[in-house]
Amino acid sequence: MTQPPLAPYPALRLRRLRQADWIRRLVRETTLTPADLVWSAVVHEGEGRIPVASMPGVERLSVAEAAKAAREARALGVPAIAVFPHIDAGRKDQAGSAAEDPDGLVARAVKAMKDAAPEVGVLCDVALDPFTDHGHDGIIEGGRILNDATIERLVAQGLMQARAGCDILAPSDMMDGRVGVLRRALEAEGLQDTMIMSYAAKYASAFYGPYREAIGSGKLGSGPSANPGDKKTYQMDFANTDEALREVALDIAEGADMVMVKPGLPYLDIVRRVVEAFAMPTFAFQVSGEYAMIMAAAKNGWLDEERSILESLGAFKRAGCAGIITYFAPVAARLLGA
Ligand code: PBG
Repeated sequence: MTQPPLAPYPALRLRRLRQADWIRRLVRETTLTPADLVWSAVVHEGEGRIPVASMPGVERLSVAEAAKAAREARALGVPAIAVFPHIDAGRKDQAGSAAEDPDGLVARAVKAMKDAAPEVGVLCDVALDPFTDHGHDGIIEGGRILNDATIERLVAQGLMQARAGCDILAPSDMMDGRVGVLRRALEAEGLQDTMIMSYAAKYASAFYGPYREAIGSGKLGSGPSANPGDKKTYQMDFANTDEALREVALDIAEGADMVMVKPGLPYLDIVRRVVEAFAMPTFAFQVSGEYAMIMAAAKNGWLDEERSILESLGAFKRAGCAGIITYFAPVAARLLGA
């Protein structure tokens, strides 16, 4: 060879640091561990486990199975579980009244999980959609989602969850001002240790599709009274990024301890901006549609399942996430521990 290929910079060979696993590990900039994961789990009112068709590998868990999941999380080193309820359709109504039921599914699941594994954190969504017959996150009047009337219900729901033993309240409703009202209510009730992880920048997204099946959500735009066919008057427009910073700034000012961006992988630019702007513990939710996409392709043999799971989760860490809420948590933790 007359001339090295990189002349006039013959010493610059970036592949040198990629030549073997040991050196790749040594210079690795970010790592994914089970401690980065929050297990997104669906619970139901019946017995046993019921597969969710649009999310291969995800099952709705009975309260007893949820308690087992908490023990499993502890064994796997997964710090926390997020609970999403699938309640019987007959118990849903216009106002989502079941959301604040102290003997309801969420309260029972939280108690069972904290009894089974007190060392594992429990996170609850504060939002009405699993409990409304129309599937919206708020109270509807004349076809509009009412902001302040919804907040009153959310506070009742959040206090109930905290009293049941929930460690982290995660308002996912996108009503204006709900974090501040919730924080003040918690303080007033002596629940000052209850944490708030706000769904701060949450977008109106098609990627929540399979979740609606998972929790048996009412079909938007249907039902006895007029209601909108989408959530665009409260969830964010996916074209926007500065607006996400305003949402996050407000939630922090109102008392959020941690913030979240949702969905996940298609919104890593937002994660990055939030991390750089606020230096707050920032989480992302790898939502149901992201799970379904990877699993559908893997089931067809088009993607390597294990590698795709770990690469997608690793991307969140690289973007700066403190952690990821994901349906892959138990599978990923097992892969990482292996
Ligand atoms: C409820 C809520 C949703 C998700 C989490 N909490 C749906 C929505 O806002 O429409 C989505 C979760 C997922 O897709 O995995 N507010």
